[in-house]
Amino acid sequence: MISRRNLLAAGALSGAGLVIPAGEHLRAVASGGGQHGHGTHGGSPPRGAAPTGTPFSVRMPVPPVAMPVRSWGGVDHYRIPIRTASVELLPGVRTPVLSYGGGFVGPTIRARAGRRIRVEYHNQLDHPANVHLHGGHVAPEDDGHPMDVIAPGRSRVYDYPNRQRGATLWYHDHSHHTEAEHVYRGLHGFYLIDDPQERHLRLPDGQYDVPIMLRESRFDEQGNLYFDPFDFDRPVVLVNGRPQPYFPVAARRYRLRLLNASTHGTLTLHLDGLPMVQVGTDGGLLPAPVPVTELRLGPAERADVVVDFSRRRPGSQVVLSETRGPVLRFDVVRHAHDHSRLPDRLRPLPALPPPTVRREVVLSTNFETIESLINGKLWDPDRIDFRIRHGATEVWRITNIDTEFGGVNHTFHMHLVQFRVLDRNGRPPAPGERGLKDTVFLAPGESVRVQATFRGYLGRYVYHCHMLEHSAYGMMAQLRIVP
Ligand code: C2O
Ligand code: CU
Ligand code: CU
Repeated sequence: MISRRNLLAAGALSGAGLVIPAGEHLRAVASGGGQHGHGTHGGSPPRGAAPTGTPFSVRMPVPPVAMPVRSWGGVDHYRIPIRTASVELLPGVRTPVLSYGGGFVGPTIRARAGRRIRVEYHNQLDHPANVHLHGGHVAPEDDGHPMDVIAPGRSRVYDYPNRQRGATLWYHDHSHHTEAEHVYRGLHGFYLIDDPQERHLRLPDGQYDVPIMLRESRFDEQGNLYFDPFDFDRPVVLVNGRPQPYFPVAARRYRLRLLNASTHGTLTLHLDGLPMVQVGTDGGLLPAPVPVTELRLGPAERADVVVDFSRRRPGSQVVLSETRGPVLRFDVVRHAHDHSRLPDRLRPLPALPPPTVRREVVLSTNFETIESLINGKLWDPDRIDFRIRHGATEVWRITNIDTEFGGVNHTFHMHLVQFRVLDRNGRPPAPGERGLKDTVFLAPGESVRVQATFRGYLGRYVYHCHMLEHSAYGMMAQLRIVP
């Protein structure tokens, strides 16, 4: 992995000029007035850090489900403010954050496949923000394009038709150049699409269907979230906003919807002693369940897993760990009836139409300027990189050529479509990557081919690395769907 020292060795000091404008602009953002410092941006990480508390002493919260303010004409209307808040992330400490609706993890929107919703966001911050529905099949004007922001004090209604299959999506800020810090400070939440066509499968649901947002963070001595876009080893993994929480479970099957909402770090997860069975990925259910011992989630990737806690007696504990250490403990506290199932077949994949266009996408870093590039170019909102005919099926080969200086990981995310991974480094993708995806991970030197069909809307959408520190510094480009 590339470290600060590597960057300095690569003569990247000049890059500090890139960092400071965004940092200065946002210095006081989360505290709403600058009374609380956030450390220096582009400087060295804080020496001390607020204690994260005794492991497994706080309970993992489940983000509240948003309630519609009204429903008529077959449309549910929601209203969510974008505002600062002061929340308890570390035990006994108040941390200023940016929030959708006042919580560090925004309210979970539970939509239904085929039923339209509208969400009105009121931007109560003193600078622009916006909302992107990650994984959503939505019109360009509802997509939260980086240049299409909600001015301070203004409201904006996003229209989500949910003409797509059931999936674990999420929503987050996408405001140009500030998305990384905004998401880091809390502008993120779950958006789950329940699919009536999947009810017969009888996967665990209700309180046994639990969204779990994992994300790396760094705190300073006062317990403020410390943000530096070049901080590559943030030590604390927050789980629904708490460090190393516990979560009481019944001895039965659960569906856990895991999301890596980190702006930069990749998480490699394993559960001690119990099998995790992956049933879903970014775009919804896999064709068949896949037992996994280790789960790697790049930023923005999701995995739905089924875990059967009935294999453990009440009183036992099961720990979910990441390479940094334990992140979440499940405490089996009671027996329970379980009418859920884990069928052998889940959801067939749609047919792959023959592709008519092939494209190359190269992800790279200029180590002199620390600019992150796609096909050698920096993000330019006035440039359309690819023009795509409406309805076309295309194969894109994405290659991460950053093998120098220890290598840089990237991910690749496309708006509007769910794609299929055809192969990874010329070999068939792992079974857990065979479903519909909107984000793929690319280790240094890796090359992945994906296939997508672009239909439903005309207009421009972005594609980018989902390490938001990279996309905020250039690793983003634009497609336009034309008639
Ligand atoms: Cu998670 Cu451009 O999005
Ligand atoms: Cu997206
Ligand atoms: Cu990247």
